[in-house]
Amino acid sequence: MKVVMLQTSPEFGEVDRNLDDIDRRLEGVQADLVVLPELCTTGYQFRDRAELGACAEAADGRTVERMCGRAAACGGHLVFGFAERAGGRVYNAAAVVGPDGPLGTYRKVHLFADEKRLFDPGDGGFPVFDLGGVPVGIMVCFDWIFPEAARSLALQGALVIAHPANLVLRYCQDAMVTRAIENRIFTVTVNRVGTEERVPGARLTFTGSSRLVAPDGAVLADAAPDGPALLYAEIDPRRAREKHVTTTNHVLTDRRPDQYRLGRFNPDGTDSEP
Ligand code: ACM
Repeated sequence: MKVVMLQTSPEFGEVDRNLDDIDRRLEGVQADLVVLPELCTTGYQFRDRAELGACAEAADGRTVERMCGRAAACGGHLVFGFAERAGGRVYNAAAVVGPDGPLGTYRKVHLFADEKRLFDPGDGGFPVFDLGGVPVGIMVCFDWIFPEAARSLALQGALVIAHPANLVLRYCQDAMVTRAIENRIFTVTVNRVGTEERVPGARLTFTGSSRLVAPDGAVLADAAPDGPALLYAEIDPRRAREKHVTTTNHVLTDRRPDQYRLGRFNPDGTDSEP
């Protein structure tokens, strides 16, 4: 499976220009799977929900349609972040599109910082798509800090996690090595670069360093922390079917859910009910 990662630097609100930039950078690229950043056509720092609403599109809208054209030109599937309008709600979503059209969206479950006042949280769980015979799971950016997200995808049989991101903290890229090892899965984190300060005093610098990690924790592709980048790696997703970390330790079947007490966390420190 040839995986391409396109790290970009979107201009806020310039959807057409950002789509043109993506088209230009993917011109002539052939791949089975292309992963792009979170909110890669709109930019990230919306001032308010009205501004977000003006940029949001339906899952069969113009952006998805153009990306389907690019998927056809690439001869594979694309996973990219966009603001999805559905009914009266707006989700921080990732679309999965292929040469024959859109396959569906994932709506970000764990919203980060100001996203909580802008977006509606997704409640459709973490989906796995069959992309040319390879089960590919989707999560978006801050979902990384909840190990349950990647675990849910691994337990559903995903062999590869496509992970569009707009990272501003410095932890995720290193943490993805652990996510890959603990699930024995390929992870494809594609981040953006550049800065936005549309809210005075709230400057955001996106950390780039997109990376593809193999099930043994080896980093197979690693972008610079600044500047757009086009990377690719050839992977054998079947490697992620082998879940043993030693001959006697299987990361999924050795789990002991009966030993994991699922108490509610109480911030005031009082005992929680199991
Ligand atoms: C993030 O979830 N965009 C940090």
